[in-house]
Amino acid sequence: TASQAAQKRGWHLYLVGGGVRDLLLADPTKIIELQDIDLVVDKAYPIPLKSLQADSIESLETSPQVPETGAGVELARELQQYYPNVRLQVHGRFQTAALLWHKDPELGSLWIDIATARTEFYPYPAANPEVEASSIRQDLYRRDFTINALAIRLTDPRSGTLLDFFGGWRDLEAKVIRVLHANSFIEDPTRIYRAVRFAVRLGFQIESQTESYIRYALESGIYTRSISGNHKTPALQTRLKSELKYILQENYWKPALQLLGDLGALRCIHPTLEFTEELWKQMRLVDRCLKRFQPPEESSEQAVIREPWQLLLEVLLAQLAPEHRAKVAENLQLPDESMTRLQRLDTRNQVIQSRLSQCKSPSQIVQLLQNEDLYTLILIAVQSPRVIRKLIWNYITKLSQIQSPLNGNDLKKMGYKPSPKFKQILDRLLAATLDGEITTRPTAEAFLA
Ligand code: CTP
Repeated sequence: TASQAAQKRGWHLYLVGGGVRDLLLADPTKIIELQDIDLVVDKAYPIPLKSLQADSIESLETSPQVPETGAGVELARELQQYYPNVRLQVHGRFQTAALLWHKDPELGSLWIDIATARTEFYPYPAANPEVEASSIRQDLYRRDFTINALAIRLTDPRSGTLLDFFGGWRDLEAKVIRVLHANSFIEDPTRIYRAVRFAVRLGFQIESQTESYIRYALESGIYTRSISGNHKTPALQTRLKSELKYILQENYWKPALQLLGDLGALRCIHPTLEFTEELWKQMRLVDRCLKRFQPPEESSEQAVIREPWQLLLEVLLAQLAPEHRAKVAENLQLPDESMTRLQRLDTRNQVIQSRLSQCKSPSQIVQLLQNEDLYTLILIAVQSPRVIRKLIWNYITKLSQIQSPLNGNDLKKMGYKPSPKFKQILDRLLAATLDGEITTRPTAEAFLA
């Protein structure tokens, strides 16, 4: 439908970006379902009149002049008329529109972005790009890597043709990630994270010249000012956060992080952040812990980590000196609770480590740890010596699940009246259960008596 709508206006329409890459990499014997489709309309080189049908020529001649910002938007609006259940978002400044289909829960949803071919100018390094209408070739040239700068034409004549101006097909076959121009990483530092993400995800190598551009960009110190400094570039920080999130929530996060570390790219997050042995040890410990705390199929009493990527990011940020943590967390737009946790982490860590080694019984351990949230406990555990860590793991996995054989309702049935003493009795019962003094209802009742 989209290509017909473009065709009748005399515009070319292209499938671009990751969709083309994934189609070319896919097993040709299998059907692949794209969830995210990027389309580009090119008005710069109109479809030759002779290849348009007579009725399209008529509508072309009578159609009102489309404002410069609107080709992609106009197509999206037409598509929405055919599919009224689709949600439409328009980003006038970038001359793009997005259509969102909510399919059935098993298939998930489908995003279609329709942009007008454009050229981007970066007014200064790591700035937000400024946009100008242009042709498909220029549109592809502004992109990150050759493998993402391929296009398939969806309109006639020669619909289905692959447009490969920069050797993307050759690089797909050679399994390399290659930038299109030397300034790519200076203009957009998040491309370093994208290079790593694609390399690890696809099993590709970062081509050596591209790697030296990455190292040069990192050494130039440009990001210190733009991302981690006080100079606010919120859009860039949002993109960095989404790249970090993307990497940390995939099952390949460990090799990706290692590669980011080898390149020295953690310094985009903060100039002092390095990939050390200690950080790696902590990340591996968190990984073991995450496997233990995957959300269960059915809801259960056990604590779960719903945002594992955020926990991993907090472990990274916890490596920074305390005075930098809140600022970086704020720049990355982490929730307030993360910022608070990272700010008070060292104090809580000191208190817990010193008191935990003095605890003489399970009930004392529970009393010390029960008011801490799960993320704080894990952050402290991975920074602690083995003995302390084992005590915290034991609390999280076992002690925190133990319940007394008698609860408040049981006490009421037994004739106890709710009062401040009531809570003390319950606490005492729980402590006795934790310390193994009572195990069953009769022993609990005997204990009460
Ligand atoms: N792009 C870019 N520079 C960026 C982000 C995106 O040049 N910093 C371009 C690339 O051409 C990319 C396209 O925009 O292919 C779409 O971006 P995105 O949807 O983020 O990536 P995909 O390539 O589709 O990758 P994925 O499959 O991981 O979503």
